[in-house]
Amino acid sequence: MPKNPALARLPGFRDFPPEDLAVRSHIFRAWREACRRYGFQEYDGPPLEPLDLYTEKSGEEIVGQLYAFRDRGGRHVALRPEMTPSLARILAERAQALPKPIRWFSIPQLFRYERQQRGRLREHFQWNADIVGEAGVGADAEVVALAVDALRILGLGPQDFRVRVSHRQLVSALLLGSGVAPDKLPVAFGVVDKLERESRQRSLDRLRQECGLGVSEAEAVLQLFESSDLERAAEVHGEDPEVAGALADLRSLRQVLDEMGMGPFVEFDLRIVRGLAYYTGMVFELFDRKGELRAVCGGGRYDRLLELVGGEPLPAVGFGMGDVVLGELLAERNLIPSYRRAVDLFVAAVSEAQRELLHRIVAAQRAAGKSVVYPLRHQPLRRQLATAAAEGAERAVLLGPGEVERGVAKVRDMATGREVEVPLQALLAGKGGDGDGNA
Ligand code: HAM
Repeated sequence: MPKNPALARLPGFRDFPPEDLAVRSHIFRAWREACRRYGFQEYDGPPLEPLDLYTEKSGEEIVGQLYAFRDRGGRHVALRPEMTPSLARILAERAQALPKPIRWFSIPQLFRYERQQRGRLREHFQWNADIVGEAGVGADAEVVALAVDALRILGLGPQDFRVRVSHRQLVSALLLGSGVAPDKLPVAFGVVDKLERESRQRSLDRLRQECGLGVSEAEAVLQLFESSDLERAAEVHGEDPEVAGALADLRSLRQVLDEMGMGPFVEFDLRIVRGLAYYTGMVFELFDRKGELRAVCGGGRYDRLLELVGGEPLPAVGFGMGDVVLGELLAERNLIPSYRRAVDLFVAAVSEAQRELLHRIVAAQRAAGKSVVYPLRHQPLRRQLATAAAEGAERAVLLGPGEVERGVAKVRDMATGREVEVPLQALLAGKGGDGDGNA
């Protein structure tokens, strides 16, 4: 805490000292590696956007959490709370010229004024991966598999997490077919979304009082959604073409994912609704297997968003995976590599007389690509060696008067203590830093 509390970090925001930044970079590397394997290209957009981009498209929950203000030019603006509307805007301008399907990813920092709780902050980094221009389940399967593979790269397996898949149109059709009036659909979605968090009785009461269902209708809805059994949904509502179409999609999705070896990670679960307004088809969330943490990842198909921001209509599917819950899960499973400082070389001079030479060697070794540190002011050799160890130097170049007179320097392997003599000419030519005495 700084002496002046007015200067304290804002609640829900994080500082990233090097050991914390290393965790973030570890996660980002896995995300980028997964994208490389799947042929996705990286993009970005501005962190500040017109407020209107969110008010219409994102849905009430996110709009209520916006960091929004008027800029000095009087414009209504907002810090981006999610990436999808920016992606839609960027593509609305240029999708026509791009070969389809478009596979793009980004790792933006996002801002939501949320009530702070475990796994939820007011800023987070969110990996977004989206496929635009392909309406078939092949694209749905590809994004689910990509999310799974990133977690596998980080060392997590089917014992650690699962993907719960549902379908917006299927849920709508099942609710309508169960007697929910079209204008009550949003409320009914809310009830389904909360089935796991609210008591059964409360859900029954809400279905009756807020969605206008009778006792037996409300009971039937609960049974259908609690079981999440697609065969049962097919038995009861299979005549409905919307239901039949969505079920067929989900079955093909399952088949592709099984063929890719993703079967053990994937479950159907009709209780997954997703808070955002723009989803139109398959939706999914990825959770830790124990069910202790919030969702690590959420996404789905949004076939109308590009049109809504003024682009040509293009089908799209993708997800966002945050760094906060994922970091918690990795920490819980001991999958965060321990932090270690590391440089290739520490160059030490026994006295000020070798300082000019030291500067020349440092510059030459850096020009040759080595990471090099040295004492910025003269210190006793013992202190310098202690610093070299603290910096994690692999080797130390020791410039002593006797050796320098003979045209050599000692290069010490910091782990074994073994020393070799290396010609100064080699060190000044950017060589010999690997302790190769013949360089
Ligand atoms: P979302 O479900 O709002 O989706 O966020 C996706 C993930 O971001 C969540 O599962 C969670 O891990 C993380 N996240 C969200 N809010 C916070 C927060 N306040 N603190 C920490 N982590 C958070 C979207 O944003 C969609 N735009 C994703 C998408 C991309 N759909 C299609 N393409």
